Amino acid sequence: MALTDSVDDTDLVAQHSPLMSPLVWDLAHIANQEELWLVREAGGRPGLRPDLDHLYDAFQHPRADRPALPLLGPAEARAYVSAVREQTLDVLAGTDTDPGRPERLLAGAFVFGMLAQHEQQHDETMLATHQLRQGPPVLDAPEPPRAPADAADLPAEVLVPGGPFTMGTSDEPWALDNERPEHRVDVSAFWLDTVPVTNGAYQRFIAAGGYQDPAWWTPEGWRHVTGTGLSAPEFWQRDGDTWTRRRFGHVEQVPADEPVLHVCWYEADAYARWAGRRLPTEPEWEKAARHDPATGRSRRYPWGDADPGPEHANLGHRHLRPAPAGSYPAGAAPCGARQLMGDVWEWTASDFSPYPGFEPFPYKEYSEVFFGPDYKVLRGGAFGVGDVAGRGTFRNWDYPIRRQIFAGFRTARDAAPEDGGSA
Ligand code: AVJ
Ligand code: FE
Repeated sequence: MALTDSVDDTDLVAQHSPLMSPLVWDLAHIANQEELWLVREAGGRPGLRPDLDHLYDAFQHPRADRPALPLLGPAEARAYVSAVREQTLDVLAGTDTDPGRPERLLAGAFVFGMLAQHEQQHDETMLATHQLRQGPPVLDAPEPPRAPADAADLPAEVLVPGGPFTMGTSDEPWALDNERPEHRVDVSAFWLDTVPVTNGAYQRFIAAGGYQDPAWWTPEGWRHVTGTGLSAPEFWQRDGDTWTRRRFGHVEQVPADEPVLHVCWYEADAYARWAGRRLPTEPEWEKAARHDPATGRSRRYPWGDADPGPEHANLGHRHLRPAPAGSYPAGAAPCGARQLMGDVWEWTASDFSPYPGFEPFPYKEYSEVFFGPDYKVLRGGAFGVGDVAGRGTFRNWDYPIRRQIFAGFRTARDAAPEDGGSA
């Protein structure tokens, strides 16, 4: 509600970027998906507005075409959201959500969890629309915690021991189809950055001519960077010999100690090569985040199995920016890496592909249609990720050219045998 109440009706129906829907589309799409899955499918009811389905089906109309559709206006969309929610809560009150019941959609309230995550994913999309929108600031949130005293003394990298670990999950009740099933993956020992790459480090890549040297870029990355003239993260502006950025309408100096944000996969990959390193693969990222060498099992989160609290990670729109690198010591993984969850999404080296034994559930258009070499996987979640839309096994994906998402990265390198990293 804050995302839509903070702007006027003209702003709600406007398209702020060809990459994004008007905010009023996301609002009614959230309600339409909820009607489809919770009121009609779970509740067995006729529903409220089946006639709207085609307008809010993301596969029928590309984002750029949505403003021209006969969409519900702001007041109608808000009324639709409330009417659907009333029926949803009624269905939920009358539904047996016992984890043991045979219907997979209802066992453990899966479909309710799926829709809660869907709404929070669109909240993040709407937050990205706010970031792209021009004009003075309209959103407000407290500043994240300051860096802890030990942040400056952390080792640059941590060793993740080699050997098999359990990737994915079969028993996390609200895990989505692409996170399943759990399976063993052998990952060789490697070194991982303790914290995400910072704005300060990224500025050194820019100053060293990183955007001008094809040596650091893949052929596709070089074509992209030269074809579009990229020379810094999105929303950055050079101001004499310093950098400023626009963040939700605030123009401010780029903070050197904060994780870099709004870089595409090609930029992350080029930075890593310039630094003599590489992006971690998706299994490496998940092993660093979840593997507990003391017990041999994989945790739900880097810090353990407890749901995320404000001490663990910068999630849930609590803050409107990443916290300084080295923050959240209580959220550290067993390997010592910090901020794997929250702050910024982290690009991995990997394409989005199914785990062995993958089954689409409950619909192919959530994951299956996106598998393949066109999309790169991002892990960990950003400050704009809702509390039920992120966990150690959660997988996000996007095109390697995309920068409007809240994405940064960290780098890795192979361990040598004498590093002693075998499990
Ligand atoms: C998982 C973030 C890539 O926004 O395209 C929302 C989530 N799926 N509605 C997206 C999603 C259907 C999806 N991502
Ligand atoms: Fe959606």
